[in-house]
Amino acid sequence: MQAVPLVLAGFGNVGRAFVRLTSEKKTMCRERYGLDLHLKAVLKTAGGFFGRTLPEWDEIVELPAAETTRHPAWQSGLGLADVFSRLEPGVLVEATPTDIQTGEPGLGHMIAALEKRWHVAAASKGALVLHFTELTALARKNGVGLKYGGATAAALPTLDVGLFALAGTEISRIEGILNGVTNHILTRMEGGVSFSDALRETQEKGIAEPDPSLDVDGWDTACKILLIANSVAGTSFRLSDVRRESIRSVTQDDMRKAGEKGRALKLLGRFAKENGASWAEAKLVSIDKTHPLFGVSGTNKGITFFTDTMGPITVMGGRSDPRGTAAAILKDIINIYRP
Ligand SMILES: NC(=O)c1ccc[n+]([C@@H]2O[C@H](COP(=O)([O-])OP(=O)(O)OC[C@H]3O[C@@H](n4cnc5c(N)ncnc54)[C@H](OP(=O)(O)O)[C@@H]3O)[C@@H](O)[C@H]2O)c1
Repeated sequence: MQAVPLVLAGFGNVGRAFVRLTSEKKTMCRERYGLDLHLKAVLKTAGGFFGRTLPEWDEIVELPAAETTRHPAWQSGLGLADVFSRLEPGVLVEATPTDIQTGEPGLGHMIAALEKRWHVAAASKGALVLHFTELTALARKNGVGLKYGGATAAALPTLDVGLFALAGTEISRIEGILNGVTNHILTRMEGGVSFSDALRETQEKGIAEPDPSLDVDGWDTACKILLIANSVAGTSFRLSDVRRESIRSVTQDDMRKAGEKGRALKLLGRFAKENGASWAEAKLVSIDKTHPLFGVSGTNKGITFFTDTMGPITVMGGRSDPRGTAAAILKDIINIYRP
């Protein structure tokens, strides 16, 4: 049995879903994978919890956010350095907010973990998008895993397909509906709803953030196609290399005209290698019924890899919520330890 110490940075929607899932799947991980998962620490901005056992995590995870810091076990000022100095290496689960300007706080967390020979399983994107080459090189140098399925469309398997199922192929093109929020808005607009009403509805349902700009302005899709292309096609895109389009400009008239021609407007993350050059973009594209992603509607996602020897391979589905993201993190942890 392999003991797996876990440290979780970020105790919001994803962090809490991960704690619940770990508790739920602990026995299965022991029996099926020989992994004994031990959540050792949970960190928020101003401190955290350290050394609790699982039944107590079950209690802590159900506390309302405002009461977390009043729990008797809360340690104000507790940080990653304290925790790492007192534990054998395991996996850092990075679930702090995504900041695509600085990459922090995820960047500092990931560097600290990789330098101490902890594996990393990330849901946050900022650090990876801004410092992909440096972080992957650091992980390689220290012989540890750096996984980020939670940051590349979460429950929809993108990297696993590109890296493992398509090994030995040449991937010349990738097209993906990688963001559930924008796909849901566009689907509602196909039904005649205006952009602002569709956005409001999506926010009221808790699908979109109060500040939806990361999603609707294409940043999230751009980040994901960058990470997917850099991982499976060996490119070194920076965010400024990825052309990006917002869906704010789409009108009901655009949707109606596309519908009349039997087409649909989708925000696609696209990558292509053409004549020795590569490009990536997050772009509104009109697709017809023959496109493999035509039927991907609502919060669903999908990705098609165009390969030389296996033809086009499409994967669709995957929950677009914190539980689906937590499941992607757990999958990454299991695969880190897979012999
Ligand atoms: N929500 C989803 O379905 C989803 C899907 C895929 C990927 N993601 C990514 O997953 C990450 C987490 O998302 P979320 O929805 O769980 O966000 P969230 O609800 O805002 O939670 C973020 C958590 O990070 C903590 N935090 C902030 N700064 C920190 C620091 N310096 N050290 C330790 N903890 C810190 C916050 O603690 P305080 O409360 O103390 O500020 C909070 O607990 C984001 O990067 C997001 O892009 C989310």
